[in-house]
Amino acid sequence: MILVTGATGVIGGAVLRLLAGGERPVRALARTPSSVPTLPGVEVVRGDFTEPESLRRAVDGVRAVLLVTVPNPPTVAHDVALLDAAVAAGVRRVVKLSAIGTGEWWNGRLVGSWHQETEDAVRGSGLDWTALRPSTFASNTLGWARSIAVDGVVPDPVGGARQGVIDPRDVAAVAVAELVGDHSLGRSLTLTGPELLSAADQAEVLGRLLGRPLRVADLPMPAMRQRMEEDSWDGAAVELAVAGTGWARSGGNAVLTRTVEEVLGRPAATFETWAADHLPRFSE
Ligand SMILES: NC(=O)c1ccc[n+]([C@@H]2O[C@H](COP(=O)([O-])OP(=O)(O)OC[C@H]3O[C@@H](n4cnc5c(N)ncnc54)[C@H](OP(=O)(O)O)[C@@H]3O)[C@@H](O)[C@H]2O)c1
Repeated sequence: MILVTGATGVIGGAVLRLLAGGERPVRALARTPSSVPTLPGVEVVRGDFTEPESLRRAVDGVRAVLLVTVPNPPTVAHDVALLDAAVAAGVRRVVKLSAIGTGEWWNGRLVGSWHQETEDAVRGSGLDWTALRPSTFASNTLGWARSIAVDGVVPDPVGGARQGVIDPRDVAAVAVAELVGDHSLGRSLTLTGPELLSAADQAEVLGRLLGRPLRVADLPMPAMRQRMEEDSWDGAAVELAVAGTGWARSGGNAVLTRTVEEVLGRPAATFETWAADHLPRFSE
């Protein structure tokens, strides 16, 4: 039995789609089970990281867990509660979704500090573990959809910096490989796409596919912070986003690895492939 947390989210959802109908039974943990799509071989249970009893029920009979660390609000205690329940239930393996840049420093701030703390807890849990540290997801560009529809503008929070944009389906595929195999036990894997791309590069791809030119507008860090605060983001989440964005803006995330290809035996998908597959979502 494999337990997938974050089942309604980007990576958890993609992991469920990959595991559905396979040989292994799968359990999805969700605060609102009705928001998890019905998939063959997938049992959905109600669970919340803030409710230890629900976690104890969710890990019963489970061999491997995908642990999605919730970004807003970032709460290390969530992950520790899940790990405690997993250890007590005799779970063997945990694959933790972390992020690229974890443990780096920018402007006196630790990047991905809550991922660092959670990775430490995973390492100390006694479970077999793999930490996945993906680069920025291609799907983050869906956050541009409204601005693209309104005035054809792509807001760029990282000031032209290039990043190893990754298709979240590749992150999910690596997660599945680590949940069912033992390619990388005891390692933190930095996962990237095949190319370094700026927001302008991504806008060029999207504009070509959508058939209309897009314009990139720098989104300075104070404006980004203000937008997050107006959208009622948790204060700690805002500070973490500022540190991560500052790090990327300074060029820290101009990193490519071949880990996706090493694990999956095929190249990482391009941003263009992801964009072509999701184009209708830019017109919703
Ligand atoms: N976006 C990127 O570019 C990027 C890059 C690298 C790493 N990451 C990392 O990826 C992680 C986020 O993954 P994601 O994008 O797949 O997630 P996501 O789409 O943001 O979804 C978050 C998930 O967490 C669930 N959740 C929230 N609070 C919960 C609680 N109290 N108990 C149980 N479940 C709860 C949500 O369920 P509900 O439906 O109930 O809200 C949802 O399924 C973060 O740790 C982030 O740092 C992101």
